Amino acid sequence: MKLLILFFSGTGNTDYIAQYLEKKLQNYTQLIEISLLTIENCSPDELKEYDIICFGFPVFELNSPEIIRTFLANLSPIENKGVFIFCTMGLWDGNAIRKNYKPFQKKGYSFLRSMSMVMPGTDGLVMLNKKSRYVKKALEKDFESLPKVDKFTNQIIDIVKKVSSGEKLEDLSIKPRFKIASTIIGPPFHLLYLILVNFMKKKFYATDDCTFCELCVKNCPVQNISIIDKEIVFGDQCVMCLRCIHQCPTDAIQIGKITLGKFRWHGPLGDFKPKNLTN
Ligand SMILES: Cc1cc2nc3c(=O)[nH]c(=O)nc-3n(C[C@H](O)[C@H](O)[C@H](O)COP(=O)(O)O)c2cc1C
Repeated sequence: MKLLILFFSGTGNTDYIAQYLEKKLQNYTQLIEISLLTIENCSPDELKEYDIICFGFPVFELNSPEIIRTFLANLSPIENKGVFIFCTMGLWDGNAIRKNYKPFQKKGYSFLRSMSMVMPGTDGLVMLNKKSRYVKKALEKDFESLPKVDKFTNQIIDIVKKVSSGEKLEDLSIKPRFKIASTIIGPPFHLLYLILVNFMKKKFYATDDCTFCELCVKNCPVQNISIIDKEIVFGDQCVMCLRCIHQCPTDAIQIGKITLGKFRWHGPLGDFKPKNLTN
């Protein structure tokens, strides 16, 4: 049975969880063949090659980032396949899992299980003082052992074993949880975020600390950054993943004044390097 761990990660959290999951699943290679890809290195059509998809994303505005939604809108119809969904979040995911299952459901995937993992909030971190309590907590957090991901691994293996012994994927399917609170809190929260994010998107710039190393240009998942006449230019396709800001080696990229001199996150182990096509 072929299982694909497919994910997007702006700043390393989802990447770390995807790799942790892969490592755990590697203990069961007699049952499953595991592949790991980012959506930047995979076309929606390629999903047809796998029996089970384990799909991961960071929660943005109680949903997934736009880059994910565009990818999922182009999925191909399939038969007898299943999807596990996982997300990473700073605080709360609302109905993000349910919303992101919808495109899979439309194409015929059975929903198997899901996991929502609290990780340091990369939106907040970039505006916080390097010595703040939240930053200290994020840096001191132990990411080596993650019981929630271990439990999710067991759920995946349990289902794989059942399918291997003849049970049908659709019979093992459940409904994604519906959180009623999200229908109340969601719309005003979403509106606030939308206003804030649209305002912030226009405030990106690079300070004189920029060395024109081009890392931001190469790393941007939507090719929104370019260098024109010795100037870093930000287009209007930003998906607010904040990768350019957190990854800049000289901390030159800013959003207005709120990120000046503030903290930058390099993933749970401090070594995150995006794996995308242009690297
Ligand atoms: C633009 C933006 C919006 C976010 N919105 C939410 C949110 O609605 N709820 C939440 O719990 N976390 C939110 N976060 C925090 C991220 O979900 C969290 O830090 C995630 O682990 C980042 O994953 P990544 O490092 O793989 O990109 C947001 C982060 C960003 C950058």
